Amino acid sequence: MKNLTIIQHPLVKRDLTLLRDRKTPSNVFRSILRRTSTLMAYEVTRNLPLKNIKVRTPLESTSGSIIGKPVVLVPILRAGLGLVGGFVEVIPDARVGHIGLYRDEESLKPVDYYFKVPRNLKQALVLLLDPMLATGGSGAAAITYLKEKGAQRILYVSLVAAPEGVRKVVKAHPDVMIYTCALDRELNRKGYILPGLGDAGDRIFGTE
Ligand code: PRP
Ligand code: URA
Repeated sequence: MKNLTIIQHPLVKRDLTLLRDRKTPSNVFRSILRRTSTLMAYEVTRNLPLKNIKVRTPLESTSGSIIGKPVVLVPILRAGLGLVGGFVEVIPDARVGHIGLYRDEESLKPVDYYFKVPRNLKQALVLLLDPMLATGGSGAAAITYLKEKGAQRILYVSLVAAPEGVRKVVKAHPDVMIYTCALDRELNRKGYILPGLGDAGDRIFGTE
């Protein structure tokens, strides 16, 4: 699908299987999600620009690299929090914003309750983090908000996506690249991804 990259790494596929498994308890789910998000960060940041610097080894000077663009992580609460730890592990300088959205159970429309993002989004690479891209309503709304705050380069990082949701986000924001670990079959009548992994927030925080 247009604008969609599916992360195909074998370790990610192994982890996603564990995350899908209904028998995986919350504490294990959390730690696997953290590990998976580190692997996802590795794939998503593949094209990060670098700046050359000089570095002195104990023996001589040589050239080295630093990340050439500030990175801002923006998890969508709650479930997006499950991806933050793994990304911060490999991008320790990243600043972190938060967007609070939940889906109304009847209408499936996103309801917003919290927004706090760092200044100067214009220069940054913004990584929007949410494990589940279902109808795409939450993601599309979050991207609109980030653009209103000045973001110009946004990557949307999800763990599992539904085709309907990807289409919706691409239509609303054709400039945003989407990363996911699996493009699942469809949504059920309640807007859950099939086969999916259930309610990501509940599984991370043990609120089922
Ligand atoms: C989940 C998920 C996404 C949203 C995806 O959050 O984390 O934010 O649903 O659905 P959509 O693509 O149809 O908008 P939820 O609303 O369950 O809130 P929670 O993370 O607080 O549990
Ligand atoms: N939100 C979730 O947490 N899971 C789904 O399958 C769909 C939306």
